Amino acid sequence: MAKNRIKYICSNCGHEELRWMGKCPSCESWNTFSEELIEEKKSSKKKNIGEGSISKLDFESQQIERRIKTNIEEFDRVLGGGLMPGSVVLIGGDPGIGKSTLVMQAASRIESPVLYVTGEESANQINLRAKRLKVQSQQISVMTETDLDLIINAIENHSPEVVIVDSIQTTYRPDLDNAAGTITQIRECTAELMQRAKKKHCAIIIIGHVTKDGAIAGPKVLEHIVDTVLQFEGERSHSYRILRAQKNRFGSTNEIGIFEMHEDGLREVKNASEIFLSEREKEITGSVVTSSMEGSRPILLEVQALVTPSSYGNPQRVATGFDYRRLSILLAVLEKRANLRLSAQNVFLNIAGGIRIDEPAVDLAVCCAIASNYSDKYADNNTVVIGEVGLGGEVRSVGNIEKRIQEASKLGFKKIIIPNNNIKSVNGKYQIEIVPVENILSALNRVLN
Ligand SMILES: Nc1ncnc2c1ncn2[C@@H]1O[C@H](COP(=O)(O)OP(=O)(O)OP(=O)(O)O)[C@@H](O)[C@H]1O
Ligand SMILES: [Mg+2]
Repeated sequence: MAKNRIKYICSNCGHEELRWMGKCPSCESWNTFSEELIEEKKSSKKKNIGEGSISKLDFESQQIERRIKTNIEEFDRVLGGGLMPGSVVLIGGDPGIGKSTLVMQAASRIESPVLYVTGEESANQINLRAKRLKVQSQQISVMTETDLDLIINAIENHSPEVVIVDSIQTTYRPDLDNAAGTITQIRECTAELMQRAKKKHCAIIIIGHVTKDGAIAGPKVLEHIVDTVLQFEGERSHSYRILRAQKNRFGSTNEIGIFEMHEDGLREVKNASEIFLSEREKEITGSVVTSSMEGSRPILLEVQALVTPSSYGNPQRVATGFDYRRLSILLAVLEKRANLRLSAQNVFLNIAGGIRIDEPAVDLAVCCAIASNYSDKYADNNTVVIGEVGLGGEVRSVGNIEKRIQEASKLGFKKIIIPNNNIKSVNGKYQIEIVPVENILSALNRVLN
């Protein structure tokens, strides 16, 4: 019998080496190699090769796209309208963030048979959770199993429409000698589940652990194999959780789902703007409200800035929830076009509520917040500020202007500053005063008092 040999695989990119290395020569990440057994190749007798199936693209097909709804609106939106039969969805997230809770709640609302396979918890623990979450569905079958062959058998015999595998790290293929949770096992199990999903036309949700850097454990290949990769994130100290699509073959990756964790499970957050603005201190300088599009939804957010004189040579610039390079550009624009002497000042910028924005439409609000704190002038707290700032100090137009105005008006704001070029696309009648501005100086004059 041939002896098993050992190889090393990079957990980041899947690169293989015969000796351990500190740095991966392929993706240049450090300390990512882990030990795996080399599988013996099965004898490769030539078999009779048939013809693969080829067909023309069918433009006439009347097939309707059918989705399996989880009936949790925030979840369905991130999925692109529900689960696609035959697809595999990977959900990653920090330990204890609420992955099992989310899938259990989704299972309870899905109107077709669901098979919930868990290798992490006992049937008793699952029942206790289901009781706490007030699950009443008769459609859920629970299986406590880690052996992939038995899981596949169960899928074959029971033909569920949705299968949940919690988690891929505990699932193993018995014909491989590697331990469960190793890269080979994770990759092979996922590939096998993917094939099964396509064959049985069922949707499979896989839960994956994340490494300490936040990437889904297992090589990047895993993310390539599956159809959709969702990340469930949030601060442990806050009760808000955000579901974000990193990859979606059947929908946009711009949508996010917002939830709040309670004792009886996750509740959907539909009034996100109210929540992100709820802790706003109105009587401070350096705070400006802006509107950011998260997928198809406008969300009002507070931009906070703190500007302090720097006693040392190099002033500090720190941005939380906002791109650092973009901040440097905006500081240069403020210095040159609005005559603010910021080069000797420390600038700290924060998007309140732990949310991350990478939309240029918030530029003008960032500039106003910095100018407000620097010059110790209050920004009008009933005003929302929107606009992209160009290098010449001009305020450029942004998309979805009407949706943003509607949201600001709905939340009772009195005034909204928008780019001058957007005014022609505003057709509706709103309660809110709309103030178009052409450049950063006129915006600062309107906002600061
Ligand atoms: N009795 C309870 N009351 C309130 N919240 C609870 C209760 N039990 C659990 N939770 C919440 O649920 C979270 C754990 O949820 P869940 O088990 O779904 O997480 P997970 O992401 O699946 O964790 P793991 O990575 O360990 O599988 C806890 O962090 C806590 O916020
Ligand atoms: Mg869990």
